[in-house]
Amino acid sequence: MKGLILAGGTGSRLRPITHTGPKQLVPVANRPVIEYAIEDLKEAGVTEIGIVLGNLGREAIQEYLGDGSDYGLEITYIIQGNPLGLAHAAGCAEEFIDGENFVMYLGDNILEGGITELVESFQAGNHSAGIALQHVEDPQQFGVADVDTEGTVRALVEKPDDPPSDLALIGIYVFSPTIFDAIEALEPSWRGELEITDAIQSLLDDGHSIDSAVVEGWWKDTGKPEDVLDANRLVLEDTTGAVDGTVEDGTEITGNVDVAEGATLEAGAVIRGPVSIGEDVRITADTYLGPYTSIGDGSTIENAHIENTVVVGEATIRTNVKIVDSLIGEGATIDTAEDLLPEGKRLVIGENSQLKL
Ligand code: DAU
Repeated sequence: MKGLILAGGTGSRLRPITHTGPKQLVPVANRPVIEYAIEDLKEAGVTEIGIVLGNLGREAIQEYLGDGSDYGLEITYIIQGNPLGLAHAAGCAEEFIDGENFVMYLGDNILEGGITELVESFQAGNHSAGIALQHVEDPQQFGVADVDTEGTVRALVEKPDDPPSDLALIGIYVFSPTIFDAIEALEPSWRGELEITDAIQSLLDDGHSIDSAVVEGWWKDTGKPEDVLDANRLVLEDTTGAVDGTVEDGTEITGNVDVAEGATLEAGAVIRGPVSIGEDVRITADTYLGPYTSIGDGSTIENAHIENTVVVGEATIRTNVKIVDSLIGEGATIDTAEDLLPEGKRLVIGENSQLKL
């Protein structure tokens, strides 16, 4: 069984964060979201992984993951270029898949329970595809499955106005190579993409059997800022409190707080876990970090109050304005305007930024 991670796309709903990098490298609890997919595939016994790359952040992903040896895996990169749809992305990997069964994992998805059960269930049966489903409140935003009481998949539809159920296709699929014939025959959907949902529907139309499983643990598609914060919160729930950096006497820590190598928490700082602090971060006295906060590598946080927030990295934050529920991009500076005249906020804001002042 091979693995395929889709890491193309434009990341438009995560701008401005994705102006400078791909969404699959956005950190969740200080690890790029794509790393969770890699871990799940490895745990399910996959050793050869293809990663489909678009135009955005192609080099950054290759530089970060390399040839896979750091993970004990073999990684092959496949260039899709323009995001012409999930089925198009899968089709680009036909040569890499080379007639084997494979698991396809959307590189911006993250789930609690891994994929081993889904893979094992597919392998035990005689199916052309396997899909993972979850009950959601807003099925219109996803691919949706119509499933009978026995779990047999009757139909699939992509982002329907009138959903046949509340069962969303989560971003994990298992395929036999038959999927490539279905992809070949596809026409673009109303949104101009070759939809993997339509490819699986055409397998159903041709009488193939599709395995399905409803995933119980949490699942997140990290396509939007609030989803990144949710995923960060869910992953931080399992923080163990590993301290590799320096915690000075007089730092007040409660709950689990991970402190990576080279990070310093200065005396007087107050940290209420779960919190993750990246490498070479400096947290000064009079700083408060509240639950569900991740501070990315190389950041400096001085006299600030931050909670339920993801700081991507290399940021400088020095303000007595409370920061909550925020996603702060690479290299951002947030400074105090207190002593400056005329009074008022001073902003240098990039395209698609969002501020609530
Ligand atoms: O998250 C689950 C949903 O993912 C499913 O319910 C939908 O059926 C499925 O179509 C997909 O919907 P999205 O609209 O959320 O997909 P998105 O465009 O965000 O792309 C998902 C991942 O695939 C993301 O990591 C980018 C990558 N991608 C996307 C496209 C369109 C590619 O690699 N190439 C592409 O052409």
